[in-house]
Amino acid sequence: MPVSEAQVQDALKDTVHVWLAYPEKISLERLSARYLSVLDAEEKERFHRFHFDPDRHHYLAAHVLLRLTLSRYAPLPPSEWRFVRGSHGKPAIAPDSNLPPLCFNLSHTKGLVACVISLDRECGIDVETIRPMRDMQGVAQTVFSPSEIAWLNSHAEADLPRKFFSLWTLKEAYIKAIGLGFSAPVPKISFDMTALRLEIGYPATHDRASWFFHLQQATAMHSLALASRGTEPASPIVCRELILSD
Ligand SMILES: CC(C)(COP(=O)(O)OP(=O)(O)OC[C@H]1O[C@@H](n2cnc3c(N)ncnc32)[C@H](O)[C@@H]1OP(=O)(O)O)[C@@H](O)C(=O)NCCC(=O)NCCS
Repeated sequence: MPVSEAQVQDALKDTVHVWLAYPEKISLERLSARYLSVLDAEEKERFHRFHFDPDRHHYLAAHVLLRLTLSRYAPLPPSEWRFVRGSHGKPAIAPDSNLPPLCFNLSHTKGLVACVISLDRECGIDVETIRPMRDMQGVAQTVFSPSEIAWLNSHAEADLPRKFFSLWTLKEAYIKAIGLGFSAPVPKISFDMTALRLEIGYPATHDRASWFFHLQQATAMHSLALASRGTEPASPIVCRELILSD
């Protein structure tokens, strides 16, 4: 993997990389025995605070994925990465002039964790489990714009969960890229799902051309979306798997 500044510049030039891991491929016991030591004190504290093992399991897998992945792009061991948080909680690498200006974002859901890495461009990623929801229309009214609801309802009933989570992950990837998370006016942000572009961004005058989006079904049960500032990459976004093993 690229570790010199020039190699990293080259590998991430005009693109972003996505790394995935499947927590259930390794037991929580084996995962913690092998990797808990790479987390910092704050991460370890959060790891121990979870009430349920499945939450602890994918939290650990996500943070191990992040640290091992970052170390593929810079000559720093996984346990030595330090992070800071933006005003709405978005984590970023603590400024260090010896490191390339890497940006990242992390997402975890049952059965899948994902991380996007870029060079100096805001990015956000979201993964969600595609599942039927009891009050899908009610939730759609609170988070989707009128044109997004019309798009959703143009699909057959059987296709609604997949379409719902495509749109959900895309919107969430964007609000995570801009760092606002839930504090963004989510229903006022609107996507044209046919062209996969931002119709109304945040603020509403946001430069639509300066974002690119990627949407894919990561597994039969998972939707994955990413948002990144910049031009459309010349080559397709590649998802690589990190094998968590002992
Ligand atoms: C963190 C947040 C942005 C996403 O939450 P989520 O979907 O539960 O969680 P994800 O697994 O996708 O992402 C969590 C990770 O995002 C990162 N994160 C936290 N705050 C963030 C922010 N403001 N911006 C971007 N990333 C953030 C963290 O790395 C976090 O992982 P960690 O807690 O293990 O460190 C959440 O606070 C939020 O605001 N959710 C919005 C939900 C919503 O309205 N969705 C509507 C979509 S239509």
